[in-house]
This record gives sequence, structure tokens and C-alpha cells, in this order.
Amino acid sequence: MAAAKTRYTSFMSKFYITTPIYYINGLPHVGTAYCTIAADVVARYHRQQGNEVMFSAGTDENGQKILQAAEQAKKKPSVYVDEVAEKWKTTWAQLGISYDRFIRTTEPRHKKAVYDIIAKVQAKGDIYKGIYEGLYCVGHEAFLRPDELVDGKCPEHNTVPEKVKEENYFFKLKKYQQPLLDHIAKHPEFIQPATRRNEIVAFLKRGLEDLSISRKRANWGIPWPEDSSQAVYVWFDALVNYLTVVDYPDADYTKWWPADVHLVGKDISRFHCIYWPAMLMSAGIELPKQVFVHGFFTIDGQKISKSLGNAIDPVELAGSYGVDALRFYLLREISFGGDGEFSRERFHQVYNTELANELGNAVQRVSTMVTRYLGGRLGVLPKASHDVGLYHEAMNGLRLDRALDELWVHVKGVNQY
Ligand code: MSP
Repeated sequence: MAAAKTRYTSFMSKFYITTPIYYINGLPHVGTAYCTIAADVVARYHRQQGNEVMFSAGTDENGQKILQAAEQAKKKPSVYVDEVAEKWKTTWAQLGISYDRFIRTTEPRHKKAVYDIIAKVQAKGDIYKGIYEGLYCVGHEAFLRPDELVDGKCPEHNTVPEKVKEENYFFKLKKYQQPLLDHIAKHPEFIQPATRRNEIVAFLKRGLEDLSISRKRANWGIPWPEDSSQAVYVWFDALVNYLTVVDYPDADYTKWWPADVHLVGKDISRFHCIYWPAMLMSAGIELPKQVFVHGFFTIDGQKISKSLGNAIDPVELAGSYGVDALRFYLLREISFGGDGEFSRERFHQVYNTELANELGNAVQRVSTMVTRYLGGRLGVLPKASHDVGLYHEAMNGLRLDRALDELWVHVKGVNQY
């Protein structure tokens, strides 16, 4: 690896990758762990290349969803979030996640960052008071359009949304419709893969509405500055985590900001590709360089999710096969960006054929030959016969499954040789 490092890294650069902060109304399942496991792989790759890496992780602890979960657990929300956040950290440790910083949105430093953003957006004249009427899905922590419902219910959470009519603070989102379209046209790399970019562009072209960014307060969440009858809308606060975690508003946040990539699932692409950049434009802060949107792991074609009751525990899987094998399977199985089925049978099969047979044999053969012919000392490696540039290209473009394909050309090549 040292050889690859000197050959491919001519200078050290910084690399800031983020993961979504998860709602902690439960523990991670294979689907939710996927994004963090993928980000971990990318962070490790960049460290190996000699880059200075910031890999952030965290928990989204405000909002109604968490309040309801605490009520169900018959705990005070503050006690509940403290307990569950610890469990998430333990789970990530069990899965070998190498995050550099962890952010909880109930921390005082986060409130400070959110207030700073609100002040900037307000100073820009982008916040006003108005009446919102709509159908709120607590599972989504978002308003749904009537045409998104099936038999009057949210199809993902299988619940009837609440009819809400209240006075809220609004963000002038509409104003940023054209600037967003211009930014995307100028920076095609901003939203990846291209299919997701096309979806966002189509959505933008249909027209935006201003966004309600506060809720009547239910004694939980960040109180609206100077109006404690309202709480900051949980998504408006959650997105700011990417700044808080690198010490915003302290001046040195620019050591890391703008983020090189926000890794997110397709259900939250709108929040990251529309709301978040619009908030940043309004606040006069640089936009992240890229939002990379990945697909879902499904079981029998349905998204793996706690509310659908098909969740699989990644820690149990890692216990049976090892963390590396789980990481390998998840990235190998589906093209990064698309959807794919999770199957224990496939996992078992991939484990036996690709890891045990192919990789296992390659390692075994090489180490036997090194012992037999080189007295157990590898010495300086000659230049690889096959170009590894394609592997680096795939890793840098976040085509993680393609990087594995490329790696496997070598594994197979070694065995044949
Ligand atoms: N709290 C918000 C994110 C705020 S980020 C500023 C949230 N949390 S979540 O816990 O519901 O989802 C976290 C991530 O898990 C999302 O990126 C979502 O796409 C991802 N996944 C949830 N189920 C998944 C699968 N079955 N497969 C792949 N990813 C999935 O949304």
C-alpha cells in the first residue's frame, strides 16, 4: 500500500465526508447502517491515500418523532436521548465505524450554530410569519402532499398524517429556485449520480413553495429565537449539524467547510439538494461540493425499515461473519446509488466464493510463496502489472461497487498467475 500511496498522492489534501444524523427512535438496522458503513470505507480510503480526513456521524434528537418514542418508552425525552445516543455510539464501535467526530443535536453548541444561521437568514430578509395548513407525517417529520398518500395514509409509515393548521415562521425557499437550478447547471458534480440530479432538477422546475421552518412548541426541540412558543423545524436544525460538527460559527470551521461530500439516502435527497443549499445561499455560506445519493436495501422489494417490521440487526450479522465481511457484502451487492435486495443466502454465498475462496486463496498462495521462495520477506514490490488507476478512479467517484470489481480483477489475476 505504501507504494500506491506515493504513486497516487502527490499532495495531502483535506477530505470532509458526512453521514446523515439518524433519528434515534430505535437502533440501526442493516438499511440505516449501510450509509455509515459506505462513508467509513470512503474515509478509510482517503486516510490511506494520505489525506487529512474528517468523517462525521451523529444523532437527530429533536422533533416529534423522538418525543413520541420517549413517551412510549415512558422516559423523559432528555433521559431517553442520552440513553439511545450512547447505544448508537456502541453500535458504531461494534461495526468498526471510524468516525472522527460525533454530533448530537441536543448539544448546546448545535443550538448556537442554528441560532447563528437563523440570524443570518433573517438579516437577509428571508424569514416571515405565516399560516401553514397541511398534512404532517411524524414518521417523515415533513408535510406530505395529498397525492403522496395511499388510502389517506403515508405509504411508508402506514399512518394517517395529522392535519395541521398553525402560525409558523417561513423561509423564502421559492426565491432560491432559479439560483439552485443555475448552481446545478454550473456544477453537474454537485448532485450524483446523474439520475438523482435529474429528479431534483425536474422537481425544481415544477416550482417550489416557501418552507415552514417552525412548529408550535411541544416542549421539545430548539426554541425559536425570541419566541419560545415555537420550536425550530427539526429538518432546519438537523441540516445545520454538518456545520456545527466542524465548529461553526467559530472562524476555523472553514478548515473543513465546505464538505467534500454529503452521503445520503434517496428519501432525504430533497432536503440535502434543495433546502440545505438554499439555506446556505441565504446565509451567505459556501455550498458543499457534492451530495451523493444512494439507494435502499430492500427485502422482498420493500425498503428495510423499522416501521415495516423487516429490520435486520447489523451487529448480529457482523458477529456471525465479521465486520469486514459485512462491509464487503453490502458494498459488493448493489451498485452504489441504486437499490438492491438484501439476502442472507447471498451474503453466505458471497462470503464463501469471493472472500473465502478467491481472496482467501490469493492471500494463502502469496504468503506460502513468500515463505518458500523469499525466506518470508517480501522486500520492495515491483510495479503492479495491471493498472490500478481504474480502482482509484472508482473510489474517488464513489463508485464503490466498481472499485471492488476492479480489485477483484487483481484477486483473480493473482490466483491465475
Ligand atoms: N434524521 C434524518 C436525517 C437528517 S440528516 C441532516 C433521517 N434519519 S433516518 O434515521 O430516518 O435515516 C437515516 C438514513 O438512513 C437516510 O439516509 C436513509 O436514506 C437511510 N436509510 C434508511 N433505511 C434504509 C434502507 N433500507 N436502505 C438504505 N438506506 C436507508 O432521515
